[in-house]
Amino acid sequence: MALLWALAVLSLLPLLEAQSPECANLTAVAPITNATLDWLAGKWFYIGSAFRNPEYNESARAIQAVFFYFEPRHAEDKLIVRDYQTIADKCIYNLSTINIYRQNGTMSKIESDREHFADLLLNKHLRTFMLAASWNGTKNMGVSFYADKPEVTQEQKKEFLDVIKCIGIQESEVTYSDEKKDVCGPLEKQHEEERKKETEAS
Ligand SMILES: *[C@@H]1O[C@H](CO)[C@@H](O)[C@H](O)[C@H]1NC(C)=O
Ligand SMILES: *[C@@H]1O[C@H](CO)[C@@H](O)[C@H](O)[C@H]1NC(C)=O
Ligand SMILES: *[C@@H]1O[C@H](CO)[C@@H](O)[C@H](O)[C@H]1NC(C)=O
Ligand SMILES: *[C@@H]1O[C@H](CO)[C@@H](O)[C@H](O)[C@H]1NC(C)=O
Ligand SMILES: *[C@@H]1O[C@H](CO)[C@@H](O)[C@H](O)[C@H]1NC(C)=O
Ligand SMILES: *[C@@H]1O[C@H](CO)[C@@H](O)[C@H](O)[C@H]1NC(C)=O
Repeated sequence: MALLWALAVLSLLPLLEAQSPECANLTAVAPITNATLDWLAGKWFYIGSAFRNPEYNESARAIQAVFFYFEPRHAEDKLIVRDYQTIADKCIYNLSTINIYRQNGTMSKIESDREHFADLLLNKHLRTFMLAASWNGTKNMGVSFYADKPEVTQEQKKEFLDVIKCIGIQESEVTYSDEKKDVCGPLEKQHEEERKKETEAS
């Protein structure tokens, strides 16, 4: 899930604090608690993203649709991720692990022998969350947006667009996913049936 993990070296927070008014209501989640992890458990849909970093911008534009499941491992400070990406009309399934740094509200993932960081921003009321990354300063800033349903409401979308504005990106530069292009449904169903059988067998 490369697009989740823009190469965040700098924290987004100092940049957000410097701006306004769109940034006013935006706070990163810190610390991440067991309750936060429980809140994140379950199925999520990737809605859209905006990345200044050209490499991430390009990979985001190649993605047609993504949904995934988070499974918390509280004691290990980890989330297991099962993600279903549709790229070039093909389904790509991956199982991976996200590390949680509870104190500073950061998540990370090892990919290509590097640890990629992102700050978690969430809205409990709206059932959405965002992962924010700033790589090499504002020049490479990026945010990706997730919701518990493939279609977002106007209110949810506004929240995302406020963040985009806050970091100085235009709405026209946002890349959205298209749920109608998803081809991972059958594989998800197959996995569900396999799990059911395993549960019955044990
Ligand atoms: C899927 O996982 C493999 C092995 O961990 C990795 O090499 C590959 O880049 C991953 N693909 C995606 C699309 O994340
Ligand atoms: C959060 O903490 C971890 C572990 O101490 C550190 O590696 C990471 O860089 C920190 N992230 C931020 C954004 O400060
Ligand atoms: C921030 O939150 C306050 C109170 O909920 C609301 O009145 C205000 O419109 C919000 N600001 C933005 C930029 O969304
Ligand atoms: C992503 O790339 C496209 C095409 O090059 C560009 O039009 C768009 O502005 C870029 N998005 C961001 C957020 O920089
Ligand atoms: C979080 O959950 C784990 C596993 O259930 C537990 O070991 C740990 O003590 C909990 N942490 C807090 C702060 O409650
Ligand atoms: C930022 O990126 C540019 C181009 O990739 C690089 O030349 C520069 O050293 C980077 N600066 C920092 C502070 O990492």
